[in-house]
Amino acid sequence: MTNRIVIHADRTKGTIDRNIYGHFSEHLGRCVYEGLWVGEDSPIPNTEGIRNDVLQALRKMKIPVLRWPGGCFADEYHWKDGVGPREGRKRMVNTHWGGVVENNHFGTHEFMKLCELLECEPYINGNVGSGTVQEMSEWVEYMTFDGVSPMAEWRKANGREQPWKVKYFGVGNENWGCGGNMRPEYYADLYRQFQTYVRSYGDNRIHKIACGPSEGDYYWMETLMKQAHRWMDSITLHYYTVPGVWSHKGAATGFPESEWAITLRKAMHMEELISRHSAIMDQYDPDKRIGLIVDEWGTWYDVEPGTNPGFLYQQNTIRDALVAGITLHIFHRHCDRVRMANIAQLVNVLQAVVLTEGERMLLTPTYHVFDLFQVHQDAELLDMHESVRTIGGEDALPQISASASRDAEGRIHLSLCNLDHRSNASLEVELRGWAGAEVNVSGSILSSDATDGHNTFDRPDRVAPVAYTDFAVSGSQLRANLPPMSVAVLELTAA
Ligand code: AHR
Repeated sequence: MTNRIVIHADRTKGTIDRNIYGHFSEHLGRCVYEGLWVGEDSPIPNTEGIRNDVLQALRKMKIPVLRWPGGCFADEYHWKDGVGPREGRKRMVNTHWGGVVENNHFGTHEFMKLCELLECEPYINGNVGSGTVQEMSEWVEYMTFDGVSPMAEWRKANGREQPWKVKYFGVGNENWGCGGNMRPEYYADLYRQFQTYVRSYGDNRIHKIACGPSEGDYYWMETLMKQAHRWMDSITLHYYTVPGVWSHKGAATGFPESEWAITLRKAMHMEELISRHSAIMDQYDPDKRIGLIVDEWGTWYDVEPGTNPGFLYQQNTIRDALVAGITLHIFHRHCDRVRMANIAQLVNVLQAVVLTEGERMLLTPTYHVFDLFQVHQDAELLDMHESVRTIGGEDALPQISASASRDAEGRIHLSLCNLDHRSNASLEVELRGWAGAEVNVSGSILSSDATDGHNTFDRPDRVAPVAYTDFAVSGSQLRANLPPMSVAVLELTAA
């Protein structure tokens, strides 16, 4: 059977918020230290301590928003330890992640510099689990108050005269787990209390983010919405794709063939989670004022052999590229509610877009998906009808996952994933509601010859996009052939 897709070029379904393409950087393993921050005295070329190669790669990918400092680390982080002269900053233990020394050299000023260099929005996650209302309130004052106050004066003394703009502020992380093991009723009350003192100073408007549920914890969502929806602008959801179980998650490379379909199937579970959580949100917020922010998602495998188990370092293959493509398509479909998402994590941790080793850096297959899909950022989602083949047995999958959008210049972008690791996918695309007679098509594709095809420091371009040409156009119809396990993005313009 040939897969068929009808794109309604004249029917839009909402805007794909660019922040759906957001990222997450935690003080965990080699994400912040080594991956982003090398220090001003490092032989690795850097800008004010931030490595240039990584900066350049991230800028190209157009990273819109970056979450920091955690994760679980956020609820153990005391921001005052990370400001002032670096040599005087406290050295402490990163108790949650590997028990290593945290020297606090990367703090508020360094993170805000990173965001400035990346031209992205900062998303700061505050500490509810082990912090105080005053500490959180003063952090916001330190960063954003433009006037005379103890925190603003301290910021100036530390070298930053003007306040920063901080829009996104999270009140705690995973407070049902590492953020304090709280019950939702208790956290809802704490959220209401803490957020009261997260002030919007001057023209800086803070978007307050409540800690939402893990996976399918619908009771947490129900309780938070019921008790606190008036005081939040967004609420979070965390869901990781784990092929196995927590104690044996499965390997990032060299995995058995059976784990291909299981992984993709589990990634697709995001659709059900978002639908069901959104349905609960709809009861309390029918006008969809409140956003759902999936601020942790991605694959989570067993760590690479020989690496610190607390560092969560894993390789990244064409399978991860497909997980990224499928998940981003799900976020597109729910763009009325999902306003931000942050894949975990940016560098050297979990489903990273960049891996580093000393002065070397490589771009993972997941990076290439984010890079190719950047054309969807802030574009209008187009209505689409799909009739696609089902593949696999027990872990049945659709052969194709697709999404189309129209950008501000009127160009249509169609992203396509062939989930089938064995067979090509033949596809017919019909463009309806298209004013032009003929359509011009060009594109790029990412594929691999192995289910665990990945990039290494010695072979960094094994999985990299190439021009895609295996299609024929006739009027506003397109016939395409996608190789097994591939992700493609096509641009459709008037001829
Ligand atoms: O991303 C790794 C960890 O996963 C985060 O610190 C935590 O929030 C989640 O459990």
